[in-house]
Amino acid sequence: MSSNQAKWSRDGNDLPNIEPHTQAKHQIIQEYITNLIVTLYGTGKYGVTTFTFIDGFSGGGMYRDGDSLWEGSPPRMIKAVREGYRQAKRAYPLDVQFIFIDEKHKHLNCLQDYAMAQAGLEELTDEKEHKLPGEMALLSERCEFLQGKFEDRVDYCINVAKERKGHVFFLLDPFGWTYVSMTSIRKINSLPKVEILYTFMIDGIWRFVKERYENLKSAFQDVLEADGYYDLDELNGLGLDSINPGDRQCYLRNESMRLFRNRGNAERVITFSMIGKQFKDRALYYLIHMSKNHRALEVMKGSFWPINNLQSQYYFEVHGYGFKTVNFYE
Ligand SMILES: C[S@@+](CC[C@H](N)C(=O)[O-])C[C@H]1O[C@@H](n2cnc3c(N)ncnc32)[C@H](O)[C@@H]1O
Repeated sequence: MSSNQAKWSRDGNDLPNIEPHTQAKHQIIQEYITNLIVTLYGTGKYGVTTFTFIDGFSGGGMYRDGDSLWEGSPPRMIKAVREGYRQAKRAYPLDVQFIFIDEKHKHLNCLQDYAMAQAGLEELTDEKEHKLPGEMALLSERCEFLQGKFEDRVDYCINVAKERKGHVFFLLDPFGWTYVSMTSIRKINSLPKVEILYTFMIDGIWRFVKERYENLKSAFQDVLEADGYYDLDELNGLGLDSINPGDRQCYLRNESMRLFRNRGNAERVITFSMIGKQFKDRALYYLIHMSKNHRALEVMKGSFWPINNLQSQYYFEVHGYGFKTVNFYE
């Protein structure tokens, strides 16, 4: 882990500062989950009533935003479900379980002991099932907090999802591209009703392909199973550095979709590009959405759209949906 990566302390005294691209990511997640609940639970005579949300790299759950606080992905997921439930206005139960995983004790402790209370969700930290009063009474929620590496916890999550049945959503938001194996993506995609939103660090892949870092070779081949993808000769032909950056960006995006479709068994794949202006309009990471269901894809497009700020046809062709910010830090 490099020193500029986000860090949380148990008491919330250390919180990372929120950055514009992270805010955009949070808004997409929140909007999408609300729309997902409205669409699957709130449509038809009797919609889907069981959901499992897994946040595989949960972080500490809270950021600093100037003098205020900014909620991280775990509280946002819970609140997005509540909002979807409210909007759906249904008279039958909705049963939701959240699993939050982080390798770092301090980060998970910050989430459980500090961020959940700050977000007004303290009652959910006891890992028991809860029902809210009044008009929310048909919604039952339960949170589980697991310390450990996602790769060591993925089988457990898949078993929970299998037992619970219903719809399953994985948010995978690691710091780099070496933390999630293609084996895990395949296993997750073998579930019948599942989708994944994965923060995929494409700029790290590009730097690896260019520099051929020896220490990451096995991660590229064995973890990502990307041999035969992101070809250096092709990239050289497209202008590896600053010439034709658009063609190179297109190639990297197409290769990423091809990789997750073919090796990850993802049926439908769509990307949202996070772009840094000072990096010559390179995408630093993609939010890759993998789903099985055409409706999920359409709902995701609808959630990307309000956050998308790529306007010219050129940008759109190169990056698809995306968010470009002047202040982009890693
Ligand atoms: C980018 S942060 C997550 C931010 C969070 N999703 C949000 O948007 O609020 C990544 C987190 O993953 C955790 N992490 C790093 N390696 C991990 C691993 N192998 N398994 C699970 N968590 C890991 C880090 O400790 C860090 O808290």
